[in-house]
Amino acid sequence: MNGAEKQARTIGRARGGRGPRRAPARAAIRVRLVSFRRAEAEIRSVRDAVFGREQRVPRALDWDGADAGCVQALARTADGRAIGVGRLRADGKIGRMAVRRRWRGRGVGARLLRALIAAARRRGLRQVYLHAQLSAAAFYARHGFVARGPRFYEAGIPHVRMVRRLG
Ligand SMILES: CC(C)(COP(=O)(O)OP(=O)(O)OC[C@H]1O[C@@H](n2cnc3c(N)ncnc32)[C@H](O)[C@@H]1OP(=O)(O)O)[C@@H](O)C(=O)NCCC(=O)NCCS
Repeated sequence: MNGAEKQARTIGRARGGRGPRRAPARAAIRVRLVSFRRAEAEIRSVRDAVFGREQRVPRALDWDGADAGCVQALARTADGRAIGVGRLRADGKIGRMAVRRRWRGRGVGARLLRALIAAARRRGLRQVYLHAQLSAAAFYARHGFVARGPRFYEAGIPHVRMVRRLG
């Protein structure tokens, strides 16, 4: 490794603690509510990458036909690349939260969740709930969700139901 490479690695660690493979921190990220009809291709690209290729969730389980009836949140980079998604069903169920791997750990998921919770409040919902993958339960707990009931399996992945009341 030459001097410049060493320096680049050091800067990478100092910025994010996960080395030089992390996406650039400087890029501004926008989170918007979008219609599924208009943003379908972008939403599909993120979910196919995260649930399809990364987690090997069967396509038919992810693409359940409910998307057109959901509020959809979409995160895009400053140059318009879709990097994160989530949805809110009319009954208050939040789901399909996914952030492209190299963009995780920088608050994109938190912003998507806040946007969906705000949308639920505007619709007069008194609570929101979700089926959290156990690996993401701590993330949702930090946003006020409380686990309810036993763990169960969806697509072979352990989940727990979590609820957040909207006061
Ligand atoms: C769950 C998920 C949507 C969260 O998105 P995110 O953009 O990483 O979320 P945030 O950056 O707001 O917060 C993630 C938390 O994970 C932790 N984290 C930090 N770096 C991380 C990384 N590289 N990867 C994953 N988690 C990381 C942090 O503790 C952070 O907590 P904080 O709120 O104290 O900062 C994302 O990890 C994901 O897409 N996972 C794969 C799909 C999935 O499991 N979806 C959930 C289905 S229930």
